Amino acid sequence: MADSTPRRFTRRTFLGWWMASLLTSTVVIGLAPILVFLWPAPAKGQKKTAIPVSLDKAMTELSPGDAIKFDAPTSPNSAFIMANGGGDNAAGDLAFGGFAVKDEKGSTHVFAINCSHLGCPIGLNATDKTFDCPCHGSRFHLDGTVLHGPAPAPLSDLSWKQGDNPKTIVVDGLILGF
Ligand code: FES
Repeated sequence: MADSTPRRFTRRTFLGWWMASLLTSTVVIGLAPILVFLWPAPAKGQKKTAIPVSLDKAMTELSPGDAIKFDAPTSPNSAFIMANGGGDNAAGDLAFGGFAVKDEKGSTHVFAINCSHLGCPIGLNATDKTFDCPCHGSRFHLDGTVLHGPAPAPLSDLSWKQGDNPKTIVVDGLILGF
């Protein structure tokens, strides 16, 4: 038979709840700035969106060594969002272009165009099959890893998925609204 005696609300119970609430509030207040820093909310007027990108070839048709450059749309003004990064790049940073690549081992990638040294746009060196940075001479393999510094970290990935059309991919981005 169930005990129908009401529970007593003692001073110890009250202090327990009070301490738990205080501790929870302290943790939430302490973590909030860190979470905002890691996942900044879009500024007013900016909207996260999936940006369709048209390529010359379907990702599945890329041959090892192929790299297709693409730019963020300018109407409306948009940017891609880096999924990760090192050096000057970090997850959540914006990129105004990228490369769809099949590396020489046959893996496909979609990279942000920004060099991990100080953010200059890299270019494809079609002869050597590398990405080269014109600013301070960094070079990257087609899999995004560093071939030559001063870049301290690999290229940043962009999050993408296949679009409706075989030659279209959809990349995570932001409508900047200006
Ligand atoms: S910005 Fe690319 S090497 Fe410095």
